[in-house]
Amino acid sequence: MREIPSDFGRVIAGTRDELFQEAVRLTADAHAKRTGPGVFTWALTGGSTPAAFYAWCAENKTLPEAVLRDTHFTVSDERHVLLSSNESNFGNAERQLLNPLSVPTDRRHPWMVAWPVAEAAEAYRKTMLILSGPGRAYDVCFLGMGDDCHTASLFPQTPLLKDDGGLLFGGQEVPGKGWRLTITPTGLRACGLIVVMALGAGKAEALHRVHRGPADVLNVPSQLLKTCADRVVWLVDEPAAARL
Ligand code: 6PG
Repeated sequence: MREIPSDFGRVIAGTRDELFQEAVRLTADAHAKRTGPGVFTWALTGGSTPAAFYAWCAENKTLPEAVLRDTHFTVSDERHVLLSSNESNFGNAERQLLNPLSVPTDRRHPWMVAWPVAEAAEAYRKTMLILSGPGRAYDVCFLGMGDDCHTASLFPQTPLLKDDGGLLFGGQEVPGKGWRLTITPTGLRACGLIVVMALGAGKAEALHRVHRGPADVLNVPSQLLKTCADRVVWLVDEPAAARL
């Protein structure tokens, strides 16, 4: 693996398996060093790269027993659909990772998608406050990144990028994509560790825009990670890193 200089966090390039192993190592390290008042929380995410990581973890049984024993799992953004939908990030995380690893249901924390979005966001804020403690979103937050440089459900021009009211989590309608529940910019700054995974040549242009393009958070949302760069690690394979 090699490191690529960036103002947006540590960028580590390597093969898929090296990066997945590094993701496990980073999470286990954060778990071992956790000192906060709450329980250890790990937010998973949606998208193709994280899905490949979950399948890899389940197949290879790579998550350390110490992490599996007491981690509380959630997702950093969610569509307003039932968990049974294959559009549900938490539903997919359950099917691909939590069920195969037999994580008990009392350590699974989905967004309350059966409720109207405002109430669902409020209930989730209360749950995470109890789990993580005040001022903390998650101990570890996994993210993917879309071709339009969105991360979590923070899409270009989304109002939460301009003003999230200082809240860690929110809900909003995203034109063309429906209602989304998501960690906010304030929430991202309140995570202990953020791991962004982007694999494949299809991510090269978006990574270039974030790390090497002009500053424009409103149109390149992943650039907001610069505000917490000391806690961000990007895991990218060589095809994705081609333009960095
Ligand atoms: C989602 C995600 C989103 C995703 C990116 C990357 O719900 O879809 O939270 O932010 O991680 O869109 O997805 P791909 O890896 O599929 O491109």
